[in-house]
Amino acid sequence: MIDLHSHILFGIDDGPPDIAGSLELAHAAVADGITTMVCTPHARAAYLAGNNRVTLIHERIAALRAAFVAEGIALQLIPGTEIYAEPESVELLRQGFVLPLGASRTVLIEFPANILLNTLEQMVFAFQLAGYRVLVAHPERIQAVRQAPDLLTPLINRGVFFQLTAEALIGAQGERMHIIATTLVQQRLVQVLASDSHGTHLDRMPALRPAVARASALIGEAAALAMVQSTPAALLAPAYIV
Ligand SMILES: [Fe+2]
Repeated sequence: MIDLHSHILFGIDDGPPDIAGSLELAHAAVADGITTMVCTPHARAAYLAGNNRVTLIHERIAALRAAFVAEGIALQLIPGTEIYAEPESVELLRQGFVLPLGASRTVLIEFPANILLNTLEQMVFAFQLAGYRVLVAHPERIQAVRQAPDLLTPLINRGVFFQLTAEALIGAQGERMHIIATTLVQQRLVQVLASDSHGTHLDRMPALRPAVARASALIGEAAALAMVQSTPAALLAPAYIV
């Protein structure tokens, strides 16, 4: 399985405080059936002093890859960021201060929970106009989505993808999240399942396998597996500029 959203890199954001925490998370990811994990530390304009964050992301990934070899951990790491939607976001991407997912033109975008859907739509289209494909992180947290989930349909029809957090679907984030997550899967309003794992310090560990089992019961195994295999693979496909 491919996990497009994780905070496995240590000492950057609210991920593990040290490399031991990252390795613990990596072992758990492998046990959960994850083979590829995109590292998506939070990125927003206020954090960015020069290009340090992106440099740090690459340094942390290199350190972890070396540790994986030493420990025999079969987990592929890919660089990325979870971009907090701001007016500056597109410019930050253009300048390389924040990252798309791997070599693709897919960007993982986090919106504030109280964002109006009109504003979300405008920001998404700004990314699309700049040539990026938008994957919206955890729409289940957005109040407007909880109130009227089917308002996502016009966005889906315009090429926007939505990523549900696995823990929400298995009830590990409370009953309210469980209900909206179930609705989003049943109505086919989310196309990707990801862990958004942070580590044991926040009790947020990978849970893709049980989430896929739950999704299978709701929409069938093939559609459930697509959310962790073919769809994330397509979103990660390298972009070629012609
Ligand atoms: Fe996240």
